[in-house]
Amino acid sequence: MAPAFPRGPLHKTTAIYPGSFDPPTNGHLDLIERGSKIFDELIVAILRNPDKDPLFNVSERVAMLEALTGHYSNVRVDTFDGLTVDYADKVGASSVLRGIRALSDYEYELQMALMNRKLRPELETVFMMPAEKYSYLSSRLVREVAQLGGSVKGLVPELVEQNLRGKLDPAFKLGEFPHDTRFESRKSRARKKA
Ligand code: PNS
Repeated sequence: MAPAFPRGPLHKTTAIYPGSFDPPTNGHLDLIERGSKIFDELIVAILRNPDKDPLFNVSERVAMLEALTGHYSNVRVDTFDGLTVDYADKVGASSVLRGIRALSDYEYELQMALMNRKLRPELETVFMMPAEKYSYLSSRLVREVAQLGGSVKGLVPELVEQNLRGKLDPAFKLGEFPHDTRFESRKSRARKKA
């Protein structure tokens, strides 16, 4: 039987990896690594969403992801708004890459994938699983833990960890404090007491 959407001769496969990435976590990077191995080109696409109140603005997220993925020759970072399917169309992507961590992700991801398929049937969603050690990790939890003073060491790249501290504690300057988040700046402790 002829395929419903013939793909024609072998050609370069481009995938987009859309998301909020606020902030990028080690789980995201794990998925980027996996995606970079199976697609010719992978575009990490940050949603510009004016409705949300992000911790890191879009330029900050672009800068972090560019620094963290610069060593992959087939990965680039971009931003988009509107529908994911329209963005995929614009950049000539045939696939959307999404991560599934646990069963709890499945329902939402299935809904999105099927809606995207309804909107653009020829666009495939490819699910990949990040390493088990990141299966509980999300940007939302990282933000919460960091905002409440907990350590996010090992959950996000060091660059992100430093930027989180810079963002949440304006008294922190790069190189001024040890990397261990158990250490708080004196200014920050004084502010909390006040
Ligand atoms: O990292 P996130 O927040 O889980 O990413 C969600 C994202 C950006 C993939 C999703 O919200 C999205 O695709 N937004 C674009 C708008 C759109 O296309 N909506 C219909 C998809 S069902």
